[in-house]
Amino acid sequence: MIDNMFTIITGAQFGDEGKGKIVDMMAAEYDIVARFQGGDNAGHTVVAEGKTYKLHLVPSGVLFDARLLIGPGTVMNPGILMKEIAMLADNGVEVTPAKLGIDAKTSIIMPYHIALDALRESKRTVKIGTTNRGIGFAYIDKVGRDEIQMADITDKKRFAKRLDELAPQKEMAIKEMGGDPKIARSQVDEYIEIGRKLRPYITDVSREINLALKDGKKVLAEGAQGSHLDIIHGTQKFVTSSSTVAGSACAALGVGPKRVDNVIGVIKAYITRVGEGPLPTEQKNEVGEHLQKMGGEFGTTTGRPRRCGWFDLPLAKKSIDLNGYTGLALTKLDVLGGLDVLKVCTGYELDGSTIEYPPELSDDLARCKPVYREIPGWEEDISGVEVIGGLPDNAREYIELLEQLMKVKLEYISVGPGKKQTFMK
Ligand code: GDP
Ligand code: IMO
Ligand code: MG
Repeated sequence: MIDNMFTIITGAQFGDEGKGKIVDMMAAEYDIVARFQGGDNAGHTVVAEGKTYKLHLVPSGVLFDARLLIGPGTVMNPGILMKEIAMLADNGVEVTPAKLGIDAKTSIIMPYHIALDALRESKRTVKIGTTNRGIGFAYIDKVGRDEIQMADITDKKRFAKRLDELAPQKEMAIKEMGGDPKIARSQVDEYIEIGRKLRPYITDVSREINLALKDGKKVLAEGAQGSHLDIIHGTQKFVTSSSTVAGSACAALGVGPKRVDNVIGVIKAYITRVGEGPLPTEQKNEVGEHLQKMGGEFGTTTGRPRRCGWFDLPLAKKSIDLNGYTGLALTKLDVLGGLDVLKVCTGYELDGSTIEYPPELSDDLARCKPVYREIPGWEEDISGVEVIGGLPDNAREYIELLEQLMKVKLEYISVGPGKKQTFMK
């Protein structure tokens, strides 16, 4: 087990790498688990004691004693959070203010953000394929200093004042895009009611984390989305609106970078992407169908089928650089079982040259033709394997090859959605 104080976990690909599962597995060892960016565009699956929890906002450590925090760099839809808290309560998991803290400065996703997200996407001639949760427009308002914050919705007067200030420009924007301007002032009572309920949850996340670290406690930062969806370094414009890489955890949680002990990347044994944008190793054939079917590759948040392809080393190299991973968790190895030949993309052909690192621009990445190294697959179902030695030789060779190519230690290998289906390399 990783024995350190401040660990950051991020997705090394395009999201849905299995972060929820890995965070749940590690959470027992930590005192605090904190979400630092994104919103309910995230869908993190935790499978425990036969139950499947799909978490969008509550950090994936919820089944343990850890204190959970939602940091000020996130964008939060309070209605979705309330539903999630209720879903957990129905399953016997009480998310009290002693358990969950929400930063006073967390940006609130308003109904107009969701309306604008949908309207904007419907007008795009080249779609992004957003999750339609209002994420981009909530971050626009954060950067534009027009956000409504968590603390605002707990105070009826302050909320009304802020909305009076903001609603006219939202009405104009919605109207201009052909939507119903009344959305700008809709659900106000609902937000105030939720604000009243969430008031006891408000905290100063940076202060809590820094105090915990000074006290020798362990903190786990749970990333959402994936490195190539990063707003700065991802495959623009097909990205999300937050910084998804490890460095963002420090800035967003208000913790100095020298505090970081470990950065763990979660990476699938192949690659998937939901939404639009380049995916050089995409397999629109029976291999893609195998991965989608065996891997259950349908979006946790939107239910959309995920596009699937072979493991992409150039993209992995880039996310290793972007995050400075100290270790990796390789997930969904079981899904490759039953394929005769496995391919690993080791480079791309672009404009007559072979390159080993992704070109910076999305248009160029979309033109890249993968160069593959082939290795034999295995027939066996490995989902019951509990130690590395129990894997078929070809599965072990596949892992060794990835580790050797990526030059980062594979700390964990995952062969199924359950907690027991993970072992140390
Ligand atoms: P996240 O967004 O990174 O937390 O990932 P998601 O929860 O959206 O998607 C990962 C999916 O794969 C979930 O349905 C998990 O239960 C499942 N999963 C995680 N690890 C494994 C694994 O090793 N093998 C298989 N077959 N499924 C896994
Ligand atoms: P987790 O945390 C996979 C994708 C969307 C779309 C793009 C922009 O579960 O890994 P947005 O709604 O964020 O403006 O959409 O980003 N996307 C994700 N893909 N996993 C996610 O989260 C994602 N969150 C957003 O599909 O392509
Ligand atoms: Mg997901």
